[in-house]
Amino acid sequence: MARKKTIKLILNEYTNQEELCKEDQELLNEAINASSNAYSPYSDFSVGAAVRLDTGQIIKGNNRENASFPVSICAEHNAIAYAGANYHESVITSIAICARKGENFTVDPVSPCGKCRQVLAEEEDRSGRSIRMILFGKSRIYVIDGIDNLLPLRFSSSVLRR
Ligand code: THU
Repeated sequence: MARKKTIKLILNEYTNQEELCKEDQELLNEAINASSNAYSPYSDFSVGAAVRLDTGQIIKGNNRENASFPVSICAEHNAIAYAGANYHESVITSIAICARKGENFTVDPVSPCGKCRQVLAEEEDRSGRSIRMILFGKSRIYVIDGIDNLLPLRFSSSVLRR
Protein backbone atom coordinates (compact mmCIF):
# COMPACT_ATOMS: atom_id res chain seq x y z
CA MET A 1 0.00 0.00 0.00
CA ALA A 2 1.34 3.39 -0.93
CA ARG A 3 1.81 5.88 1.85
CA LYS A 4 0.35 9.26 1.11
CA LYS A 5 2.63 12.15 2.03
CA THR A 6 1.74 15.81 2.14
CA ILE A 7 4.12 18.59 1.21
CA LYS A 8 3.68 21.84 3.04
CA LEU A 9 4.59 25.17 1.40
CA ILE A 10 4.94 28.22 3.59
CA LEU A 11 4.50 31.77 2.37
CA ASN A 12 3.94 35.11 4.10
CA GLU A 13 1.30 37.34 2.56
CA TYR A 14 1.30 41.14 2.87
CA THR A 15 -1.25 43.56 1.50
CA ASN A 16 1.06 46.44 0.73
CA GLN A 17 4.69 47.42 0.38
CA GLU A 18 4.80 49.48 3.59
CA GLU A 19 4.27 46.32 5.64
CA LEU A 20 7.57 44.87 4.41
CA CYS A 21 10.81 45.36 6.35
CA LYS A 22 12.99 48.24 5.12
CA GLU A 23 15.48 45.93 3.32
CA ASP A 24 12.71 44.16 1.39
CA GLN A 25 11.08 47.47 0.49
CA GLU A 26 14.39 48.75 -0.87
CA LEU A 27 14.95 45.57 -2.90
CA LEU A 28 11.44 45.69 -4.30
CA ASN A 29 11.91 49.32 -5.34
CA GLU A 30 15.03 48.30 -7.26
CA ALA A 31 13.07 45.52 -8.99
CA ILE A 32 10.40 48.07 -9.90
CA ASN A 33 13.09 50.37 -11.34
CA ALA A 34 14.57 47.47 -13.30
CA SER A 35 11.20 46.60 -14.85
CA SER A 36 11.04 50.00 -16.51
CA ASN A 37 14.15 49.16 -18.56
CA ALA A 38 13.01 45.69 -19.64
CA TYR A 39 13.25 44.88 -23.33
CA SER A 40 9.91 43.19 -23.97
CA PRO A 41 8.58 44.37 -27.35
CA TYR A 42 7.00 40.98 -28.13
CA SER A 43 5.11 40.20 -24.94
CA ASP A 44 4.77 43.74 -23.53
CA PHE A 45 5.34 41.95 -20.20
CA SER A 46 8.16 43.76 -18.42
CA VAL A 47 9.73 41.88 -15.56
CA GLY A 48 12.13 43.39 -13.03
CA ALA A 49 14.28 41.48 -10.57
CA ALA A 50 16.71 42.65 -7.92
CA VAL A 51 18.99 40.38 -5.93
CA ARG A 52 20.66 41.30 -2.68
CA LEU A 53 24.10 39.88 -1.95
CA ASP A 54 25.47 39.08 1.51
CA THR A 55 27.60 42.21 1.14
CA GLY A 56 24.39 44.26 0.99
CA GLN A 57 24.97 45.09 -2.66
CA ILE A 58 21.95 45.01 -4.98
CA ILE A 59 22.09 43.71 -8.57
CA LYS A 60 19.25 44.39 -10.98
CA GLY A 61 18.02 42.44 -13.98
CA ASN A 62 15.12 42.55 -16.39
CA ASN A 63 13.81 40.39 -19.22
CA ARG A 64 15.52 40.72 -22.60
CA GLU A 65 13.39 39.37 -25.41
CA ASN A 66 14.47 38.30 -28.87
CA ALA A 67 12.74 38.01 -32.25
CA SER A 68 13.66 34.35 -31.97
CA PHE A 69 11.44 33.93 -28.90
CA PRO A 70 13.23 31.06 -27.10
CA VAL A 71 16.42 33.11 -27.06
CA SER A 72 14.82 35.54 -24.57
CA ILE A 73 16.23 35.82 -21.06
CA CYS A 74 14.13 36.09 -17.91
CA ALA A 75 14.72 38.95 -15.47
CA GLU A 76 15.64 36.67 -12.55
CA HIS A 77 18.11 34.64 -14.60
CA ASN A 78 19.65 37.83 -15.94
CA ALA A 79 20.20 39.30 -12.45
CA ILE A 80 21.52 36.03 -10.99
CA ALA A 81 23.91 35.47 -13.90
CA TYR A 82 25.27 39.02 -13.59
CA ALA A 83 25.79 38.57 -9.85
CA GLY A 84 27.62 35.27 -10.43
CA ALA A 85 29.80 36.70 -13.17
CA ASN A 86 30.80 39.87 -11.33
CA TYR A 87 30.56 38.98 -7.63
CA HIS A 88 31.38 35.29 -7.67
CA GLU A 89 32.50 35.22 -4.02
CA SER A 90 29.23 36.75 -2.81
CA VAL A 91 26.10 34.89 -1.80
CA ILE A 92 22.58 35.80 -2.92
CA THR A 93 20.41 36.26 0.16
CA SER A 94 17.18 37.59 -1.37
CA ILE A 95 15.45 38.43 -4.63
CA ALA A 96 12.49 40.71 -5.39
CA ILE A 97 10.43 40.23 -8.56
CA CYS A 98 7.69 42.32 -10.15
CA ALA A 99 6.15 42.59 -13.60
CA ARG A 100 3.96 44.93 -15.57
CA LYS A 101 1.77 44.40 -18.58
CA GLY A 102 2.20 47.68 -20.42
CA GLU A 103 2.29 50.23 -17.60
CA ASN A 104 0.22 48.19 -15.13
CA PHE A 105 1.78 46.00 -12.49
CA THR A 106 0.25 42.55 -12.21
CA VAL A 107 -2.58 42.24 -9.71
CA ASP A 108 -1.31 38.87 -8.47
CA PRO A 109 2.24 38.32 -7.25
CA VAL A 110 4.53 37.35 -10.10
CA SER A 111 6.16 34.02 -9.52
CA PRO A 112 9.43 32.89 -11.12
CA CYS A 113 9.04 30.44 -14.03
CA GLY A 114 10.17 26.84 -13.64
CA LYS A 115 13.55 27.46 -15.23
CA CYS A 116 14.25 30.43 -12.94
CA ARG A 117 13.23 28.36 -9.91
CA GLN A 118 15.82 25.78 -10.91
CA VAL A 119 18.40 28.56 -11.28
CA LEU A 120 17.53 29.86 -7.80
CA ALA A 121 17.83 26.31 -6.44
CA GLU A 122 21.33 26.00 -7.88
CA GLU A 123 22.34 29.22 -6.11
CA GLU A 124 21.04 27.86 -2.81
CA ASP A 125 22.94 24.59 -3.35
CA ARG A 126 26.11 26.49 -4.24
CA SER A 127 26.04 28.73 -1.18
CA GLY A 128 24.26 26.50 1.32
CA ARG A 129 22.03 29.46 2.19
CA SER A 130 18.33 29.82 1.50
CA ILE A 131 17.10 32.71 -0.62
CA ARG A 132 14.27 34.95 0.51
CA MET A 133 11.89 35.76 -2.36
CA ILE A 134 9.69 38.85 -2.47
CA LEU A 135 7.02 38.46 -5.15
CA PHE A 136 5.09 41.61 -5.91
CA GLY A 137 1.48 41.99 -6.97
CA LYS A 138 -0.81 45.01 -6.61
CA SER A 139 -3.33 43.03 -4.53
CA ARG A 140 -0.78 41.23 -2.34
CA ILE A 141 2.89 40.50 -1.88
CA TYR A 142 4.32 37.08 -1.06
CA VAL A 143 7.51 36.70 0.92
CA ILE A 144 8.83 33.17 0.71
CA ASP A 145 11.87 31.80 2.50
CA GLY A 146 13.75 29.26 0.43
CA ILE A 147 13.19 27.60 -2.93
CA ASP A 148 11.86 24.42 -1.26
CA ASN A 149 8.66 26.40 -0.81
CA LEU A 150 8.40 27.06 -4.57
CA LEU A 151 10.03 24.01 -6.08
CA PRO A 152 9.63 20.97 -3.87
CA LEU A 153 10.96 17.60 -5.07
CA ARG A 154 13.28 19.46 -7.39
CA PHE A 155 16.08 18.03 -9.46
CA SER A 156 19.19 18.47 -7.38
CA SER A 157 22.89 18.00 -8.02
CA SER A 158 22.99 15.44 -5.23
CA VAL A 159 21.57 12.75 -7.58
CA LEU A 160 24.46 13.29 -9.99
CA ARG A 161 26.89 12.05 -7.36
CA ARG A 162 25.17 8.71 -6.70
N1 THU B 1 9.59 36.23 -17.75
C1 THU B 1 10.55 36.58 -16.83
O1 THU B 1 11.36 37.49 -17.05
N2 THU B 1 10.59 35.88 -15.68
C2 THU B 1 9.75 34.84 -15.36
O2 THU B 1 9.91 34.21 -14.32
C3 THU B 1 8.66 34.50 -16.25
C4 THU B 1 8.61 35.21 -17.56
C5 THU B 1 9.57 36.98 -19.03
C6 THU B 1 9.93 36.16 -20.22
C7 THU B 1 9.23 36.91 -21.34
O3 THU B 1 10.08 37.95 -21.79
C8 THU B 1 8.01 37.51 -20.67
O4 THU B 1 8.26 37.46 -19.28
C9 THU B 1 6.70 36.82 -20.98
O5 THU B 1 6.80 35.46 -20.71
